[in-house]
Amino acid sequence: MQIIAHRGASFEAPENTLAAFSKALDAKADGIELDVYPLEDEWIVFHDRYLERLTATPGRLLDLTLAQVRKLKIFGQQHVPTLSEALEHINGRCMVNIELKGGGIVRGLHQCIDHAIKHHGFTADQILISSFNHHWLQAVKASHPEQRIGALAVGCPIDYCAFATRLDAYSVHVDVDFLTPEMVQDAHRRNLKIFVYTVDEAHDIEELHKLGVDGIFTNHPGFSRNILAGLPV
Ligand code: G3P
Ligand code: MG
Repeated sequence: MQIIAHRGASFEAPENTLAAFSKALDAKADGIELDVYPLEDEWIVFHDRYLERLTATPGRLLDLTLAQVRKLKIFGQQHVPTLSEALEHINGRCMVNIELKGGGIVRGLHQCIDHAIKHHGFTADQILISSFNHHWLQAVKASHPEQRIGALAVGCPIDYCAFATRLDAYSVHVDVDFLTPEMVQDAHRRNLKIFVYTVDEAHDIEELHKLGVDGIFTNHPGFSRNILAGLPV
């Protein structure tokens, strides 16, 4: 079962920052998940639409200029990285799951990914693009058919993972609260990986391991790895 650091090791450092990605690498995470929005000609790494929770500033993220975003401090500490900066920092040391939070168009995304593959030690298989917005994923696939995509779902759809097959996805990413054994079996019958978010409790890690899921998104990769190491193979 892969350990994917959710927003980096966000239990130990401010989420979606270079510090959180360093902590995830220290914990030997198999992957790092991060959230991105397009702004001007960059993709920026940030989770919320609104600024308040992370920066104690009122207003909406996308109402700012890139220059203003670059002056923000996450929890008063770390700056908001661009996707290019994050990929350069991670430098091919683990898989990266780029979750599209904003957009509608996927401009510039592949320039960023191609640059990371050419100059920052990534292989194409180490980049996984996911979103709750399946139209954006379809647009990614239409322009880059070889790109691995992960289809996010909040619940347990009536036809299980059929939506992911339609999208030609590599993986389905599902909420731990709604996961069922049938969903796991359906994913595997369809040759899809199944990754579960957000998992920080020992009891959940044990159950998901038994169910045979392929990976978990966890805020606490070091702890999760230790729990997993103590479970029978
Ligand atoms: O990608 C898994 C998970 O991050 C999806 O939810 O809100 O934490 O981005 P959220
Ligand atoms: Mg996310």
